Amino acid sequence: MKIYLYGVREDEKGYIKEWEKEHKDIDIDFTHKIFDNKTADLAEGSDGVVLLQTQAYPKTALKKLQDFGISKISVRNVGLDGFDFKDLRDLGFSLTNVPVYSPNAIAEHTIGLTLRLLRRVPEFDQKFADGDFRWFPTIGEEINGKTVGIIGTGHIGSVVARIMMAMGANVVAYDIKPNPYLENLGIYVDSIEDVLKQSDIITLHTPLAKKDLHMIDKLAFSKMKDGVIFINAARGGLVDTDALIAALDSGKVGGAGLDVLESENDVFQKKFDTINDVKDPQFKALINRKNVIITPHTAFYTTTAVHNMVFDSLNDNLKMLQSKAPKYPVDINVE
Ligand code: COI
Repeated sequence: MKIYLYGVREDEKGYIKEWEKEHKDIDIDFTHKIFDNKTADLAEGSDGVVLLQTQAYPKTALKKLQDFGISKISVRNVGLDGFDFKDLRDLGFSLTNVPVYSPNAIAEHTIGLTLRLLRRVPEFDQKFADGDFRWFPTIGEEINGKTVGIIGTGHIGSVVARIMMAMGANVVAYDIKPNPYLENLGIYVDSIEDVLKQSDIITLHTPLAKKDLHMIDKLAFSKMKDGVIFINAARGGLVDTDALIAALDSGKVGGAGLDVLESENDVFQKKFDTINDVKDPQFKALINRKNVIITPHTAFYTTTAVHNMVFDSLNDNLKMLQSKAPKYPVDINVE
């Protein structure tokens, strides 16, 4: 039996080797290339594939897998927005993901972005580089006592809620499926609009379903408190970036921490000679602001997370190949 992995980074190779040692009867092969029309042929002769990328999965490339007799796909991450589930249904695929490789990785990064904005770390870093070690006027704010709005309280959002509460925040949250533990704490409000109106800090933790494209648009920003701190470590497409840029320009948004961007595939995971060589207009409009922090989709990137992404995806791909129930099956019949 053979499993082929796409998009493999150097830091994943050790974990793949470890898994191979524990599964000597399974052949493993991989490429650093992502899965697309050009690379789909590499999986010929394999039984299952394991994927990881932020780019969409083209139906024409998936069709090639079907032609090779491959019907089991596992992704090493949580987000499934790269797939059109109809394509998977049409082509007869089964899919698994890794929904809980480390909710803390993303939650802690979210807290980090929030604290860096509240304590004006980028400004202090600049002052430090300029040899200016004075406090004034770079005074900060505390999480304690602030109202933190969380949109989406799945695995990640609920960890964010717990950490924020432990830090003294008044948490308000919205989710179509409330988490029972958090519901007992009375944090849920009736609508996203309530979260937008009440919060000093807003953080997104929902998947990018088609209906949620630009969930946070010009109207949504207009409902927020003046000077709100806005964090997105979920998906770039949830936010109308031009509306965010306008909200930063007007001061409606007082600070933004962005681990994801709508146009991130043109920028993130690439190496430019200098930051000025990045041509993406939205990226250019966001950088060089003292109240914007961009991280290149690194919220997930911890050793714990990467280990679990590799192990859980390979385990589930193998389970499917052995006709056993995988731990994290994805229901591709829901949109
Ligand atoms: C996810 O797990 O969905 C992420 O956003 C992480 C990234 C490696 C795609």
